[in-house]
Amino acid sequence: MGIRYLADQRLFKLDAGDASYIIGIVDEEQFLGHVYFGRRISDSFIHSDSLMRINESPFVPSKNNRDRLSFYDTFPSEYPTHGIGDFRETCLGILDSGGHTASKLEFVSYEIMKGKPPLDGLPATFGNDEDCTTLKIVCLDRILNLEVILLYTAFEHLNVITRSAVIRNSGNDPISLTKALSCCVDLDGNDYDIISLHGSWARERHIQRIPMGLGKKVISSNRGEPGHQYNPFVAVAESDATEDFGEVYGFNLVYSGNFYACVEGTQFEAARIVMGINPTDFRWLLEPGQEFTAPEVVMVYSYQGIGGMTRTFHDLYRKPLIRSSYRDRKRPILINNWEATYFNFDTEKLLAIAREASSLGIEMLVMDDGWFGRRNSDNCSLGDWVVNEEKLKGGLRHLVDEVNKLGMGFGIWFEPEMVSPDSDLYRAHPEWCIHIEGRTAGLARNQYVLDLANPEVADAVYDMMKKILSEANITYVKWDMNRPLTDLGSNWLPPERQGELSHRYILAVYKMMDRLTTDFPHILLENCSGGGARFDPGMLYYGPQIWCSDNTDAIDRLIIQRGTAMVYPLSTIGAHVSDCPNHTVNRTTPFETRGYVALAGTFGYELDVTKIPEEDRKMIPEQVKMYHKYNDLIREGDYYRIADFSDNHLYDAWMVVSKDKKEALVTYIQVYQRPNHRSRRIRLKGLDENTVYRDSLTGESCSGSALMYAGINITGLYGDFRGKLIHLTAV
Ligand code: GLA
Repeated sequence: MGIRYLADQRLFKLDAGDASYIIGIVDEEQFLGHVYFGRRISDSFIHSDSLMRINESPFVPSKNNRDRLSFYDTFPSEYPTHGIGDFRETCLGILDSGGHTASKLEFVSYEIMKGKPPLDGLPATFGNDEDCTTLKIVCLDRILNLEVILLYTAFEHLNVITRSAVIRNSGNDPISLTKALSCCVDLDGNDYDIISLHGSWARERHIQRIPMGLGKKVISSNRGEPGHQYNPFVAVAESDATEDFGEVYGFNLVYSGNFYACVEGTQFEAARIVMGINPTDFRWLLEPGQEFTAPEVVMVYSYQGIGGMTRTFHDLYRKPLIRSSYRDRKRPILINNWEATYFNFDTEKLLAIAREASSLGIEMLVMDDGWFGRRNSDNCSLGDWVVNEEKLKGGLRHLVDEVNKLGMGFGIWFEPEMVSPDSDLYRAHPEWCIHIEGRTAGLARNQYVLDLANPEVADAVYDMMKKILSEANITYVKWDMNRPLTDLGSNWLPPERQGELSHRYILAVYKMMDRLTTDFPHILLENCSGGGARFDPGMLYYGPQIWCSDNTDAIDRLIIQRGTAMVYPLSTIGAHVSDCPNHTVNRTTPFETRGYVALAGTFGYELDVTKIPEEDRKMIPEQVKMYHKYNDLIREGDYYRIADFSDNHLYDAWMVVSKDKKEALVTYIQVYQRPNHRSRRIRLKGLDENTVYRDSLTGESCSGSALMYAGINITGLYGDFRGKLIHLTAV
């Protein structure tokens, strides 16, 4: 069992892979405190009291009530509550029927079970009885009769602990939750750096590393989705941790709505990390007997640097998170018509693209925005999910059949969460969008967000989608979401539940995705949000891949995909070869290089293949072959960052090594040509020291130790934006 209760020491010991996480019960008042999170330790004699600093007598409440507040404000609580004297970040905020905000928890009971129970209505990692063990700790506020059930799962073979909390009103009066976070971890010391992912539209998930210092660093979203700006991920790394060495703690929320993560350097030079649903715009009413489930936080521990953390996230997410049957399969190489035609297409145009694409080896045509209602620009028709037969002459079925006859699959775009003011849906039901009565709601990209919290609205939209998907042989859906939530008001919710809208909204999105993937299990679902504004593990639970960014420029993608791969596996990163000059940045890069960069993702095309230069078109069959040759390795192997051109200003390199270390693929991109400047020697990683590897392109052989420690010098590239692959196989 990965989790045990050590009764003599009053400790819970959770062992996950090479990590241990220890929780202690202390004092007669049964406080639940955090003892340790780090490299795996043996069971015998853990000095838990001194590690929690409670053997210093002034700080023990039952022995000395005079200094109770000093205790509360220093104790490393597993689930700190607001209002009694812990002035750091807390997890629980309430408003009771008397208007008070304080709560205090004590340990009541526990249960240890094999496996991992699902979370009600929420995506979460899963695991069977052999792979994980779950601990349920019941805590209680005796005055309010409010129960908090803390859930911890330890994964047997991965350095992963997941956490969540269920809050139940067992009293007789209603209680409102004003804050219900998912986890708190106190780490000793303050010599840490914070790593997070920041960005903007077309510039998502750039890595930021800053010193923690003292005070609070908050990464959060109140957009109703994570947004382009932040990702629900934060890592706390020893300040001298590198890619390969040092301790790193990664936290990632399995949630696609408003999130909050805070790292606080506290007065005693310790670090407190909390994560969960953003308390801004959140209030949840618990009537007697009702409960609330907080989303899951995945906590990864690495003593092998940032790279170790990344590979653990990848191992977890490409197995017990993604439910889709496509998870372990090579995905079809698709061609999407968005950058090829934008709204300007019809059946003939799409078939011309499909004919050419199929002759080159491309396997699926995806019809993007513009096929429904009167949608010829982004100013109308969202919500009217009815085929525009003026554009698609002969109907959808005819188009799909013709594409199928070419041996290609067919995919389609939807933006189910939205409505245009100029649409039949809005004209019939203006009250169905999120808005506040009497206030002009703001438009973004000419659209409003539907109030999916209202089941009638969600059903109506889903029925339209279902009809389309049942009409023809559609095997892929791109689910888009192109604006944030504002003007939070729901006609359906009573005033006392308006604060529940953002969370109810995302629960409804999850429910719709659940219905879609249950009714159409053969459909490959790719999530998208104006590019990559909703790239989170919650989305991956329903669909195995997410469109990474609307910026398809190969050089910008080096940075965007590197940041995304900090947490998310390459197999989840939607990446396409597009036309040049690039539509977002006007940069021209070699077609070959665009292929190398897209290869480190799902791989596909987004261009008018009938119009690109002949020499580019000729390269497509080679790229298709390259995808089929390397995709198993890229999807399943261990990913290593080798060189970052944001640091060295010249080149970028990464590699993927198969689990058995018999095969590796190195990608090297020379961003700038600069003569007589700097060594291009790179040192490889993750190989077996004693194995001899053969470079399948040059035929040269070299030992793993030489490749990793002496490295290789990259030659033969001339000019900006040039790239090459090095494929190594064990001799
Ligand atoms: C978003 C997506 C694009 C495309 C357009 C269509 O911006 O990110 O890929 O689907 O919408 O309107």
